[in-house]
Amino acid sequence: MGLLESVLHVAPVMPVVVIEDARHAVSLARALVAGGIPAIEITLRTRAALDAVRAIANEVDGAIVGVGTVRKPQDLKDAEAAGARFAVSPGATPNLIAAAKDSALPWLPGAGTASEAMTLSEHGFIFQKFFPAEAAGGAPALRSLHGPLPEIRFCATGGIGAHNARDYLATPNVACVGGSWLTPSRLVAAEEWGAIEALARAATLLRA
Ligand code: 3PG
Repeated sequence: MGLLESVLHVAPVMPVVVIEDARHAVSLARALVAGGIPAIEITLRTRAALDAVRAIANEVDGAIVGVGTVRKPQDLKDAEAAGARFAVSPGATPNLIAAAKDSALPWLPGAGTASEAMTLSEHGFIFQKFFPAEAAGGAPALRSLHGPLPEIRFCATGGIGAHNARDYLATPNVACVGGSWLTPSRLVAAEEWGAIEALARAATLLRA
């Protein structure tokens, strides 16, 4: 199993984290790992993101930290330099595809249509993020893609929570789902690590 494949199968849910304060990173990651969720995507949507990745990579045993919201080749370089083990994008561009082929960092590119998924598969990327999952047709869309594109495996993300994750996880081409519901900003700001650990533990039970 390749690294990306093992990251996508290590737990049913990959938390998508928007972190405002890098000082929260280590406790946040420890709570997720303690709850049984080791693979964590830290999105590049805040200035704290790369510091958070660095801290988790250096200090949290058992965490597999990745960088999300990768939109340009430099983001891949920054992710690798910070110690990320994988990178995730909401879509894919020719520039990013070329950069990812040159990079040692495993990359999960995003697709929301059959054509996008086929283009990525042509380039050898058979593990893809299906985004924005709910808006792009949800679990029924993924089931429809499975017939013609059986080699592709998805991490579905966007609009997924505890209420609908099982529908996705019951779909044969879904390796895992991603979502922000395990790390709500309210709980992070209040440093409610026990509550985040409980959300993580509940997420480990979601596989159909
Ligand atoms: C992502 O980047 O994967 C999504 O923004 C996460 O979507 P969610 O906030 O609806 O879980």
